[in-house]
Amino acid sequence: MTTIAIILAAGKGTRMVSDLPKVLFPLRGKTLIARAVSAATQAFGQPPIVVVGLMSDDVRAACGTGVHFATQVQQLGTGHAVKVAAESAKALSAEAVAVMYGDMPLLPSEMMTALAVERARSGAAIAMLTLVADNPRGFGRVVRNDAGAVEAIVEEVAATAEQLRIRELNVGVYCFDAAWLWPALERIQPNPRKGEYFLTDLVAIAVADGRQVVAIPSNDAEAFIGINTRADLADADAALRRRINRGWMLKGVSMVDPGSVYIDDDADLAPDVTVLPNTHVLGATRIGTGSVIGPNCVLRNARIGRGCVVQQSSIEDSSLDDGADAGPFARLRGGARIGPGSHIGNFAEIKNSTLGPGVKMGHFSYLGDATVGAEANISAGVVTCNFDGQQKQPTTIGDGAFVGCDTMLVAPVTIGAHALTGAGAVVTHDVAPGERVVGVPARPLAPKSPGTPNKE
Ligand code: UD1
Ligand code: CA
Repeated sequence: MTTIAIILAAGKGTRMVSDLPKVLFPLRGKTLIARAVSAATQAFGQPPIVVVGLMSDDVRAACGTGVHFATQVQQLGTGHAVKVAAESAKALSAEAVAVMYGDMPLLPSEMMTALAVERARSGAAIAMLTLVADNPRGFGRVVRNDAGAVEAIVEEVAATAEQLRIRELNVGVYCFDAAWLWPALERIQPNPRKGEYFLTDLVAIAVADGRQVVAIPSNDAEAFIGINTRADLADADAALRRRINRGWMLKGVSMVDPGSVYIDDDADLAPDVTVLPNTHVLGATRIGTGSVIGPNCVLRNARIGRGCVVQQSSIEDSSLDDGADAGPFARLRGGARIGPGSHIGNFAEIKNSTLGPGVKMGHFSYLGDATVGAEANISAGVVTCNFDGQQKQPTTIGDGAFVGCDTMLVAPVTIGAHALTGAGAVVTHDVAPGERVVGVPARPLAPKSPGTPNKE
């Protein structure tokens, strides 16, 4: 039986106190609406219809491809919002319609699937998920009759003292018999208090029609965290992190303090990775087995090989090959590719550069737009002067080259294999393989005899 999902996301989210529409707030690297869309797509095998307000181009863009949209010009309530989507939904001729709110990012797709299965099995007009919890958090109450059958949903503001004591709550996730739903929506009366059309009134309408309403209760309060305020968003982030981190620990990742580890959805960590406190593993970061990351690292779209060590460093859109190490206090960004076994030490910054295997760059230095050969030594204070005021210029450093302390490499420039620059050299011309240069501007020295240290 095909089910089409409708996600309600036309509300402004006033309580976020933001210019950003609520559903565009990010949670662990994905917007709330993107999370709702992907859960619905996963649950029902086809993209949902998203009900958006006016001026919602950004919301549409965040939904991804294949999603259908309906525009609710005036926010006249949740019942009205579903009505707005009716034409698109009918065109997709599904037998069942699932409705959920765009601000419930932790709802597992399995719960939606189970809901649709139960509705089809029971033939009910409405199947709904409910939460049984001590803290009602302002949710509508699920009213059952003496026989235990669901009779109505009462909003908290309209509930009697007795109804306020009900601990079965409406989380706002429903599955409807489509044939019953469309005409029933027309029968919702505006709420006397708010003038809005409440979707929840459909429960009493179904009961009046002699149709069954089934509720699937759960006590998983985290799954139903709804985002109304930024405090809710922080709660959702904490809950999602617990879920993500626990998942990785069960897959063999060690964390001494999972409460201080922040891993985005799209990251991938191999078994026997260790993540130390206060570490952010963001975007599509990949970490290979045996690597130790942290403490105090930010990795964004980083590729870390096997057996790497990264401490107190920032690695963005960059990679470390097997056995390389970085930090403390290294910064790799914009396509820094560090070869296997290379060592990047403190206050080293590398941008858009490729380093071969076994390169040593131990202390404060900058490589930008550089290519560095195997086993080269980049000493303390080396800087590629890669910007000529107009554009970025390349630097090439050959295998086994020794770039001495405080060398300025004025790009474009090439240092040949096994060449040497003396401390403080300002290199403005290419250096031939094996050649030694010193001074400002750097000039060649007599060839060095074997066994002498790199010092004149
Ligand atoms: C709703 C339920 C309540 C339930 C709670 C769970 C109703 C009447 N009440 O209350 O029983 O416990 O959710 O979170 O449904 N929206 C639109 N267009 C509108 C109005 C709302 O798209 O005209 C969207 C909002 O953007 C939001 C969602 O629908 O994502 C829910 O609306 P909201 O006003 O937050 O409903 P609640 O008062 O929380
Ligand atoms: Ca709400």
